[in-house]
Amino acid sequence: MIAGASSEAWRRASVAMPLPEDVARAIEAFGAEFPALLREPEGLTREAVDFEALRPLVEWVRSELDAGPGFAAVALGSLGLAYARLAFGLIGVMLAPPIDRYGFHYAVADTGQSYEEKAIPISMTRASTGLHTDSSARDCVPGTVALLCERPSSDGGESLIADAFSACRWIRDNRPEVDEILQRSFVRKIVTPGLDKGLDSLRRNRFPIVRWGPEFEFRYMRYWIVEGQKELGQPLSTAELGAFDLLDETLMRPEFLTTFRLEAGDMLFVNNTHLAHGRTAYGEVPAGGRLLWRMWLDERAAGGVGYKPERTGLSWAP
Ligand SMILES: [Fe+2]
Repeated sequence: MIAGASSEAWRRASVAMPLPEDVARAIEAFGAEFPALLREPEGLTREAVDFEALRPLVEWVRSELDAGPGFAAVALGSLGLAYARLAFGLIGVMLAPPIDRYGFHYAVADTGQSYEEKAIPISMTRASTGLHTDSSARDCVPGTVALLCERPSSDGGESLIADAFSACRWIRDNRPEVDEILQRSFVRKIVTPGLDKGLDSLRRNRFPIVRWGPEFEFRYMRYWIVEGQKELGQPLSTAELGAFDLLDETLMRPEFLTTFRLEAGDMLFVNNTHLAHGRTAYGEVPAGGRLLWRMWLDERAAGGVGYKPERTGLSWAP
């Protein structure tokens, strides 16, 4: 069952914090001064922006990510949807430098393709993603995944978040033989556009799912591990697949999982090394379907500012 403090942390975090009135007005004024940024927020940089009015909200998001439940949701409040990408970009750059591997704001939308037929990120499809962390590349570790919902789907596409830190701790305590497997290094198929996808690169793209020290790190994307190991001619053993099954089941247990729906204008910031996230499949819709914008934020490039995510005091697990 969910422990009292734990369920309270989940409940509180899954309710979106509206932008305060003064912040909404300040962002409108900023947008009026720099209208090009409303269409192309790529012009925002951490160096150029010190948006005083947003600082308390950004500090709240940072503390939720590092020392709270590991995620935070922000709603637009009275700010119009036309300002959403600007607000999202401002909060993002103030949290940590963006990783531009997919562009400053990457559109998470169905392209009508299947990731099972072609090695494309699952974010380009409408399939269920399974619980995962973002980035299958060894040297690219977004500390935070930020999402802005511009258009929700009418059918499915709910967001899932799992406390991977507590789930892995449960596995370590109760099934140490599975924990040992999760600490092994596995290759991940390389799907990032523009990166070399040859066998040598694949061989180098090897790292563990769970790293306990010196700082806990969870990096899991089952499908690309299975495919990568297959491509290398080292398919996973029955024991390894069984370990992944147990991990998937544990992440889905109610005490570690929360589910909610993003509405238009909602922003979600998720710790990408302690939590797993995912979404349910969504229905086929004509043009104008579900659209989210994503930013990857690089806390390590920020010198690890405030990034001490051991979360000992406020973790959910008993
Ligand atoms: Fe993701």
